[in-house]
Amino acid sequence: MANEKIAVIYYSATGTTYKLARAIEEGAKAAGAEVRFRKVKELAPEEAIKSNEGWAAHRLETQDVEEAVNGDLEWADAIILGTPTRYGLPAAQLKQFVDGTGGLWAKGALNDKVFSAFTSIATLHGGHESTLLSIYNIAYSWGCIIVAPSYADPIQFQAGNPYGASFTSNNGALAPDETALAAARFQGTRVANIARDLLAGRAK
Ligand SMILES: Cc1cc2nc3c(=O)[nH]c(=O)nc-3n(C[C@H](O)[C@H](O)[C@H](O)COP(=O)(O)O)c2cc1C
Repeated sequence: MANEKIAVIYYSATGTTYKLARAIEEGAKAAGAEVRFRKVKELAPEEAIKSNEGWAAHRLETQDVEEAVNGDLEWADAIILGTPTRYGLPAAQLKQFVDGTGGLWAKGALNDKVFSAFTSIATLHGGHESTLLSIYNIAYSWGCIIVAPSYADPIQFQAGNPYGASFTSNNGALAPDETALAAARFQGTRVANIARDLLAGRAK
């Protein structure tokens, strides 16, 4: 049987969410998945990006990462979406990508795919869960099956977020630590394993 296909689709302005996304990709690949690693389109004005050194640098660093298209969602057996927290919600860039999926939704193309989410954030109580839960709302309409990391691995008792990988970056001053990266790798692995089990069950 073919390997399970996973689309890791994220937005990151200053690179924190990107680092979690790479760890998720790593975990999924370690479990044997084929991964499409994709950023969503930047929407912010050029002046805003240039006025923030970290933002401009990260854009340059990831210039070769392919932009997500709807075909990536259609291709995937599992979709993992990531975004920085913006006022307790996903970034508009990710939302804009999601808002362009009406055609897929209308033909039921997203039904029965595995779905998971991750975020990064400035402060401890700044909205980890609220951002993740609002992303998970998308899954109900898309017809996906939510697979959160839960406490399904010992690393989750250290990372402490059963909803999805997340990291408190102090506005980008801190890069994801080993606990956050290990939890992100676990999330990628768990999603890959569950997607594989579902595919195998359907093939019976
Ligand atoms: C407009 C805006 C709104 C934000 N809202 C929140 C928030 O509600 N809670 C929080 O803790 N951090 C908030 N942040 C901080 C980012 O979520 C945080 O720095 C994140 O780690 C950045 O991720 P990135 O490096 O992938 O862009 C906000 C940042 C911006 C620019």
